[in-house]
Amino acid sequence: MKPDRRGFLAAVSGAAIAPTVLASTSSGRVRAPGDDHRGKCVIASANGLWQDGTGCVVEAMHRINNGDDPADAVVAGVALVENDPDDHSVGYGGLPNELGVVQLDSSVMHGPTHKAGAVAAIEDIKNPAAVALKVLKYTDHALLVGAGAKRFALQMGFKEENLLTEEARKIWLRWKQNQNPNDDWLDEDQNDFPPPSHARVDPDQPFTYGTINCSGVTDDGSLASCTTTSGLSYKLPGRVGDSPIIGAGMFVDNAIGAGGATGRGEAAIQNCCSYEVVRAMGEGMSPTEACLSALRRVVTNTRQKRLLNDRGEPNFGLTLYALRKDGAYGAANLRGKGVRFAVHDGTTAKHVEAATVFD
Ligand code: GLY
Repeated sequence: MKPDRRGFLAAVSGAAIAPTVLASTSSGRVRAPGDDHRGKCVIASANGLWQDGTGCVVEAMHRINNGDDPADAVVAGVALVENDPDDHSVGYGGLPNELGVVQLDSSVMHGPTHKAGAVAAIEDIKNPAAVALKVLKYTDHALLVGAGAKRFALQMGFKEENLLTEEARKIWLRWKQNQNPNDDWLDEDQNDFPPPSHARVDPDQPFTYGTINCSGVTDDGSLASCTTTSGLSYKLPGRVGDSPIIGAGMFVDNAIGAGGATGRGEAAIQNCCSYEVVRAMGEGMSPTEACLSALRRVVTNTRQKRLLNDRGEPNFGLTLYALRKDGAYGAANLRGKGVRFAVHDGTTAKHVEAATVFD
């Protein structure tokens, strides 16, 4: 099926979204739609379900229904997004670093064996999640980086490919040329000549931390989670976000559940967000409560002025996802209503609104 990013955006604001019923009970507990779900389930960030009803969560559930291991299932699911040139935040077509080089990060964790695999700042390999899965399955290591990660991928039979699409290159070049009026690149408002073709590119988001996280659980409670990204657009070369960091970008404890993160990676790293989501579920919080609790720690720990708005709240985006061993699920984001996540509950695939710390 055609992965249509604009279609995905339309779906997010369209009628295919399950209404959110979030309520606080007299005990102060938060109630959310995913609390009562039981059994096999796949959840992902919103880009895990496309407008045409296909996408990551559908593929991963299909694999789980076929009896595949949940780690294989979630990695197969996110591969659809990694392969989509219109998603500028993940895999092929992802926005590059400040030098125009696409560097990808990914991790995967398998609940039953408590084994993780990850790759960071890997270049020229389209499906870093599949490479991370090979690290998980075929090495004694948890994380390979840079040139070593690429060499390992080539040894495992992955193909070397140019990941910088024409559109991503034009978006990057436009960013680069408009960086500083005092450098030797003419900014658009300094140029008397007709704008170059890349100046006509209209990036949806000039800066992005966009990512996909996907977690799955089988009917018998076996869990896995995977996160994959091109990371912060125009980052310093070598910058690694939360996505390949076990406990930050995703984490699984097969006795409890799975947690994942998308958004500002530095915040997810410095607060061990995915581990914290799982830990909070282990203390008895529902999936949504666990995400909210982990985000409140981020709020408490965000103290640098440049990261705060005029109300003293974090000014960046961060969304956390939680899937419990019994199939209950939830998600929450730091700010702004309207952030959705994707769910396949074993019967249907839908977008569900995430809870928020700040409206
Ligand atoms: N969460 C993706 C990143 O910060 O790289």
